[in-house]
Amino acid sequence: QTPVTQAAATKVATLPDAQTVTSVQHWTDQLFSFRVTRPASLRFRSGEFVMIGLMGDPDPKTGKQKPLLRAYSIASPAWDDELEFYSIKVQDGPLTSRLQHIQPGDQIILRPKPVGTLVHDALLPGKRLWLFATGTGFAPFASLLREPETYEKFDQIIMTHTCRDVAELEYGRRLIAGLESDPLIGEMVDGKVVYYPTTTREQSPKMGRITTLLQDGTVFADLGLDGIAADTDRAMVCGSLGFNKDIKEILEGFGLEEGANSDPKHYVVEKAFVG
Ligand code: A2P
Repeated sequence: QTPVTQAAATKVATLPDAQTVTSVQHWTDQLFSFRVTRPASLRFRSGEFVMIGLMGDPDPKTGKQKPLLRAYSIASPAWDDELEFYSIKVQDGPLTSRLQHIQPGDQIILRPKPVGTLVHDALLPGKRLWLFATGTGFAPFASLLREPETYEKFDQIIMTHTCRDVAELEYGRRLIAGLESDPLIGEMVDGKVVYYPTTTREQSPKMGRITTLLQDGTVFADLGLDGIAADTDRAMVCGSLGFNKDIKEILEGFGLEEGANSDPKHYVVEKAFVG
């Protein structure tokens, strides 16, 4: 072995829970997605999140390196043999300032302990599933939209995504555009998905926060629905803290109650994690 490959082998051996990056796609100067190898033993439910990250810089005093980890929703479905993640790039963010530079072949740390509430187990059966996201809160729904159980359990899935600009919708728009031609789930999708993208700071066909559009009835008028009802409608919410709070209030106003893994009800909420 040359000294270089020896050093590389040492690095690999000391990185805990290492997984290898297989592809990276940059969507805007603030958003990117990437795929990594999946640990053979990792089981998860579509919609859950894991801790991922990189090794931090050596401590100036001790020289020791600690892993720098953040919660990331898995954006790929449970059946996929790789794992996908959708991330913001924060220029001075401890993790994402570095993570945004990963390339295929690089390694990341992935703690194989999936958890989360945006799972089918936390919802009672229903007819219509609302998925409400802002920004990178789309990630867990990228998983659930490719999950067969979503289509087995619901007749209609309404995916709303609110972003500041049109370019920020692109990851979700492409994913939804590809659902019906997906060889594994295409047939199940069968026209069940309604996509409702909105922007708040750049002109697009549908402007405004989804919260406002729900409160003033625009969403229901656009989709030909009477409203949201606890006996038929279920919802999953993933966005900023303020967004989650506002949507919760709206859903509770329609009589929906928040569920959990141990106590399935009408809707569930998870914060979109920011690097
Ligand atoms: P807005 O531009 O009106 O703030 P952010 O990038 O700040 O996380 O926001 C992502 C998107 O979510 C933006 O379009 C933003 O709209 C929207 N948003 C932020 N907070 C809320 C909220 N409390 N309710 C509804 N939409 C929100």
